[in-house]
Amino acid sequence: MRVLSGTQPSGKLHLGNYLGAMKQHIELQHEHECFFFIANYHSLTTIQDGPLHASLVRDVALDYLAMGLDPKKANLFRQTDVPEVTELAWILSTVTGKGLLERATSYKDRIAKGQSPSMGLFGYPILMAADILIYRCDLVPVGRDQLQHIEMTQDMAGSFNATFGREVLKRPEPRLNDAQVVPGIDGQKMSKSYGNAINLFDPPKQQRKRIMSIKTDSTPLEAPKDPDRCNVFALYKLLARPDEVASLEESYRRGGMGYGEAKKLLADVVERVVGPARNRRSALETDPDYVEDVLSTSGRRARAAAGEVMANVREACGLTAAKDTHP
Ligand code: TRP
Repeated sequence: MRVLSGTQPSGKLHLGNYLGAMKQHIELQHEHECFFFIANYHSLTTIQDGPLHASLVRDVALDYLAMGLDPKKANLFRQTDVPEVTELAWILSTVTGKGLLERATSYKDRIAKGQSPSMGLFGYPILMAADILIYRCDLVPVGRDQLQHIEMTQDMAGSFNATFGREVLKRPEPRLNDAQVVPGIDGQKMSKSYGNAINLFDPPKQQRKRIMSIKTDSTPLEAPKDPDRCNVFALYKLLARPDEVASLEESYRRGGMGYGEAKKLLADVVERVVGPARNRRSALETDPDYVEDVLSTSGRRARAAAGEVMANVREACGLTAAKDTHP
């Protein structure tokens, strides 16, 4: 099966982003043909500082490679390496009602948060549909927040095929990433905008300090504790081995396990997961040519796949040069 997903560059990778999406993307490389791209056309709707944008895009590539994406198995490229997505987005916009876009909750949320309503923001779901449809992919792994966009993509594929009388575009299926709630240090959902994130690639000392500052209740050290009501335990459960989780759970229930000690155990597990990746990331940072080579090689492969679909799309719309249709 062909799998596709996009990630917007948004700053430092934190445990929430990693466990919520990237980890699952990387695991899929062993089972399917994967296309993962950095959604840098989409991020223009929020990041409008050129040098900053370029460096954030580079960070996403480094994060994926450091965390184990294998460029021999999966494609990792920039959305902009396949400029035909903007052409397909235009074509899809001609078969998409304004009402459909007006129902997009992502748009309404952003406006409610004070972002100004640009056409780019309004048309965001059309570009996303183009990203997906241009590769005739089968599965799109996404978080629940993106589900509506996938449904809109299915609608747009249907409208295009119905309008032009051919099954050119393939309806993709969403694959929901494990609905893991990753709590931040204050117990709310981990998010950069809440300022409660634990960044994956902060220096070890800083990261440990951050983990030691996770909010816990005031149950005394000796007292038994409920693991299901503790942020430290919730994070530990997402990262540690099952036997380690079982053992910490027992210690909580038995009593005598303080939160400070639990935090140290968590910090050790985070370091075990992240330590080797941090080293890989530093090495990659010194080799920008290698990273560029990965992106552009994958980009060329993606563009070739997109080219096949675009030829059929143009043909169906009558956008092919006369000499091509009447030899
Ligand atoms: N909108 C997605 C997000 O913010 C990113 C994205 C853009 C995407 N194009 C995509 C995801 C295509 C999956 C498929 O997370």
